[in-house]
Amino acid sequence: MLILAFESSCDETSAAVVECSDAGFSVKSNIIASQVETHRLYGGVVPEIASRAHIEAISSITYEALSKAKVTLDDIDAVAVTRNPGLIGALLVAVNFAKALAVANNKPLIPVDHIKGHIAAVYLEHDPMPKPPFIALAASGGHTAIYEVKSFTDVSVIGTTRDDAIGESFDKIGRIIGIPYPAGAGFDALSAEGFAMAVGDTEDYLEKYKKSAEYKSPELALPSPAVKDDSLDFSFSGLKTAAINLIHRYEQRGLELPRAAFAARYTFEAVEAVAKKLGMALDRYEGYDLVISGGVAANSHLRKRLGTLAKERGRSLYLPSLSLCGDNAAMIAAQAYHEFKIGNLADSSLNASAMDML
Ligand code: KG4
Ligand code: ZN
Repeated sequence: MLILAFESSCDETSAAVVECSDAGFSVKSNIIASQVETHRLYGGVVPEIASRAHIEAISSITYEALSKAKVTLDDIDAVAVTRNPGLIGALLVAVNFAKALAVANNKPLIPVDHIKGHIAAVYLEHDPMPKPPFIALAASGGHTAIYEVKSFTDVSVIGTTRDDAIGESFDKIGRIIGIPYPAGAGFDALSAEGFAMAVGDTEDYLEKYKKSAEYKSPELALPSPAVKDDSLDFSFSGLKTAAINLIHRYEQRGLELPRAAFAARYTFEAVEAVAKKLGMALDRYEGYDLVISGGVAANSHLRKRLGTLAKERGRSLYLPSLSLCGDNAAMIAAQAYHEFKIGNLADSSLNASAMDML
């Protein structure tokens, strides 16, 4: 079946046409209008500006998605949309647009959870697809959570951040050290320089870094964001506060912060914490494979570390390609297909919700 899907939960307006079947998915188009340049001025997403920009973009990207896929609305079998979680004003734009389109054209309407959508990004390109049950990490600007995916539609949280999200922490600390919003990709590149300076340009730089003199030095010491108990939870606010204090200490002493070394140290603590809690999850869920998703799944150091973790545990690791890590409507279509199959449909009373429902 051919699904036309929409996504507008944060600062990307996206429309996609995806051919969906039990045998797999074929992305016919996946148009993403990013508002990053607009929000960069303010150092973060301004919700009201995001909603307005979604309204301006949504009609034209819908035309673009249909024409790139070489189909018309008549060819579409169902309309799907991100219903939650996200910025309420932003979500409402695609929800109302999709609702109107579905009602006016007499098509089924499929509401989709954004996080389930992120996880579904790996269904679009992996052959064979990961088969539930499996463990999934969602790491984004708003989430750092571990899920048990019991079936394609039954997903429950088994660990989560108790405060800030990992992507948000990269964005905030990145901004303080002069990386423009969103800082994730810049932080990733700066950390790569820091790792290379500490241990050279080698394949096993993360293992070497852990044993290096640089890592043992107290100058750049930072706390782990892995909560020190049996839970699968994180706390990124402690790491963030410690990092801000560290930066202030350098300023107070009139010293220049070694930015690359600092970024490497920060990234190392964040990545190790995620690997630690995912390792605990894999130990508890015997035989489960591992799926990584969300904007932070693009982080090269995290990808490398989780590759090692999966190998050590003898599990398969499913990573979305970089272009499907961030918000996009193709991943919403992939999840929508599974929701459609179990009859998870909405009518014209569908409303958006800011709430996390997993
Ligand atoms: O999933 P996403 O596009 O939007 C949300 O649902 O939040 O994730 C955006 C987040 C931002 O915080 C951004 O800085 C981060 O993903 N990000 C990265 C990288 N690329 C994007 N974080 C770390 N390393 C990256 N390479
Ligand atoms: Zn997202």
